[in-house]
Amino acid sequence: MAHPSKLELTQRPRRLRRTAGLRALVEETVLRPADFIAPLFVVEGKAVPEEIKSMPGVFRLNVADLVKECRALRKLGVRGVALFPKLAANLKDDEGTQALNAETLILRAVRAVKKAVPELVVITDVALDPYTSHGHDGVLNAMRDDVENDRTVGLLCQMAVLQAQAGVDLVAPSDMMDGRVGAIRKALDAAGFSGTGILAYAVKYNSAYYGPFREAVGSAKAAGTRLLSKATYQMNPANRREALFEAHLDTLEGADIIMVKPAGPYLDIIREVRGATRKPIAAYQVSGEYAQLHAAARLGWLDLARCRHESVLAIKRAGADIILTYFAKDLARELA
Ligand code: PBG
Repeated sequence: MAHPSKLELTQRPRRLRRTAGLRALVEETVLRPADFIAPLFVVEGKAVPEEIKSMPGVFRLNVADLVKECRALRKLGVRGVALFPKLAANLKDDEGTQALNAETLILRAVRAVKKAVPELVVITDVALDPYTSHGHDGVLNAMRDDVENDRTVGLLCQMAVLQAQAGVDLVAPSDMMDGRVGAIRKALDAAGFSGTGILAYAVKYNSAYYGPFREAVGSAKAAGTRLLSKATYQMNPANRREALFEAHLDTLEGADIIMVKPAGPYLDIIREVRGATRKPIAAYQVSGEYAQLHAAARLGWLDLARCRHESVLAIKRAGADIILTYFAKDLARELA
């Protein structure tokens, strides 16, 4: 007979939550600095880093400061960085010409980082949006009402080869053109870069959470008054089956790592892709996810340190092996 005030329960899950020791023993997901890739923004010249308004604590760095930041991240145990350039408006044009300039900012940045911290994994976006005056990821068709797929893919291939020559470990096509992963794989191999990997933005949604990033790289405003919609190439947030199809295609085309983006609002997609591919999965906790937590913390409505840990933990628990997050440095510091 049990004690009269006690329920007769065989299962009491709280037994394993009773002490910190027990909780630690049954903990299923653990974050470590090597899980993270830090996205970093690079800008020409500028002695003083510019803070991005909608991303507190994130700065556009000149190449010298970028190198310092990479060293600091490496010391904290972060193994990878994803670099994004912000070009002056006068360097942008309809065709994104600067993307194919061998001396363009991002390529100089890559060479500098690789020279200073050779063991750090360096990743660059393959997409034209930092270079085009209209802010699209590719070149426009003759009607100027959509991005032209096949001509864009040709340019992306050249861009990827330049990045490989500069020394990146992984190129990251983030443009969502059809067939670009296969074409880039062929172009890299033909140029002698069979060892350069492809981190494919395979499942990239047409998300409003990219807003602060577009401020950061200055791609937010279309040249005219038209709003910048990427709905004809990025995926509809309503779709799940299509995510599996995109992940499958990029796998067949030779992607080494499959990325889902954004991350937090798409945990179901990360989980499903995890079940569908044998490739490593990356997830990108994007600028808007970062901005949201900071905004709420500023108002005193959320505890920033606890929420950033929990938000990234959830992404790993959903099935991501690698997490691109603007919290990389904060988290690495906290885990040290
Ligand atoms: C550009 C690119 C975007 C992001 C990464 N690469 C924005 C976009 O597609 O408009 C978003 C990253 C973020 O929001 O943090 N191809």
